[in-house]
Amino acid sequence: MEILKTSQPISWLDGVDLNGNVIQKDHELNGQNIAGKELHIPGSIGSTVGSYKIYSLAKRGFAPKKIIIENKDDAITIWGAIFGKIPFEISGWKPQKVDIDKIEKLNLSEEIKEKLVKIAELYETDEFIETKNLPKQISGVSYKTITDAGLNLIEDLAEDFRVNQLSMLNPAGMDLTRWREQRVPKDFAEKQIRIIKAYEKMGAMITCTCTPYHLPRIYSLISRLKSFGNVNLHWAESSAVVYANSVLGLRTNREGLSALFYAIAGFAPVYGLHLDENRNPNIKIKVEANLKTINDFATFGYWLGEKIKDKIPYISGIKKSSPSLNFRSLYHGIAEIPFLERLKALGAAGAASGSLALFHVEGITPEAVRKSIFLDRIEDTLFFEEIDLKSTKEKLNTGEEKDVDLVAFGCPHSSLDEIKTISKYLFGKKIRDGVDLWVCTSRDVKMQADNLGYTLTIEDAGGKVFCDTCMIVAPIEDIGYKTTATNSAKAAYYLTRFCKQKVVYGDVKEIIKLVVK
Ligand code: F3S
Repeated sequence: MEILKTSQPISWLDGVDLNGNVIQKDHELNGQNIAGKELHIPGSIGSTVGSYKIYSLAKRGFAPKKIIIENKDDAITIWGAIFGKIPFEISGWKPQKVDIDKIEKLNLSEEIKEKLVKIAELYETDEFIETKNLPKQISGVSYKTITDAGLNLIEDLAEDFRVNQLSMLNPAGMDLTRWREQRVPKDFAEKQIRIIKAYEKMGAMITCTCTPYHLPRIYSLISRLKSFGNVNLHWAESSAVVYANSVLGLRTNREGLSALFYAIAGFAPVYGLHLDENRNPNIKIKVEANLKTINDFATFGYWLGEKIKDKIPYISGIKKSSPSLNFRSLYHGIAEIPFLERLKALGAAGAASGSLALFHVEGITPEAVRKSIFLDRIEDTLFFEEIDLKSTKEKLNTGEEKDVDLVAFGCPHSSLDEIKTISKYLFGKKIRDGVDLWVCTSRDVKMQADNLGYTLTIEDAGGKVFCDTCMIVAPIEDIGYKTTATNSAKAAYYLTRFCKQKVVYGDVKEIIKLVVK
């Protein structure tokens, strides 16, 4: 069997096409085909939907024959291989026999038990937690990201399995009620509706958002759970994972297909970022640039992910006293967290350009404030300076302002505060002809924005507040858009790699100024 080795992580969603060709920009395997080979990788970066891509490759006959992974915690690759029935090994690692008595006693089907045993042996754990009362976040909802193979998998699973309560969905490929206004092609819409129906049949909550923590019912549930101690969750959706771990002080690994599996099984192993000893930082970052806007924080996150990949950073130099930062007290049980949207943008970008799953900010994030982490494992220090901020912004700008035909905000899905800011800048203005403006959010948040009049202001100016979807997982390239303006570094990353777009990247205020008459 031909061996293909790389020291660079693979971004499965956008770095490998459906025929097994590596198309990842600047990757040493770019131009090679992985089908039928023994593929050696350190691990994966980017979207948690990568598991579905591996499964799709297996279904189409273009998967590697075997995968050797260095990073034992790379659940994206491991679960893609498990579902795709691709043999895999963790290099230098022999799965240990564990006491599986507990699993044997569970009232589960043989198929589910077999997968739980495999994962228990891999992570050397016989500790499992019941997932029933914990919110689960399932990715792999948009037809664009999971394609026909994923659709068939979900429909097959829906025939036999049910997920337990509080199983929430990531965004779909379209607004489920306004997709015609988005000009989503009908054949895409039909397949998307089949996916949603299959999840509905399984018993999932059709939340279709990547920011479940903005949903009031989930937020208050998390707050209640937090008052009992550490909360171990199973969330797929890389931006939600890093936000939950870093900002909310919850505990989740970067799950892929595994989140769906644990929602079905009702049990999940405790390992990785669920454990205290794996949450300590191993690199220090000193921020010397002046970060003011959400866009600045997103840019910093992008730089960070590229530099440190899957390390856990301890970030200093972000000042609480900066006048532009907005402090808010949250529900009891979660530390007071300032400027949530800025940290949301930072984490999302770092999880896209690298595989950031947890960061600590000195004096700000819960574990850094409580000093429950140890700093003695820090191996290196990096500096983020004004010049890095400027050059990263330049790198993300690939389009011409005059060519913008879509403005897209809400990656990750907009909070009420973010929608309020957009409506403030659009108040009394009109968007120029030939430009569409999307604000992407969840149904719950849109309802609040409707009640407060923000939606009306945005739609009066010619924009649209869409739910259930976003500019990346909707088929914007098939709708006909060519140049998208966004304030999100995560979106900027995927727009060029996954949506065939040129990107105009900037702050909300700057972008709106560009497109109003
Ligand atoms: Fe969410 Fe879509 Fe961005 S799923 S994080 S808005 S790519």
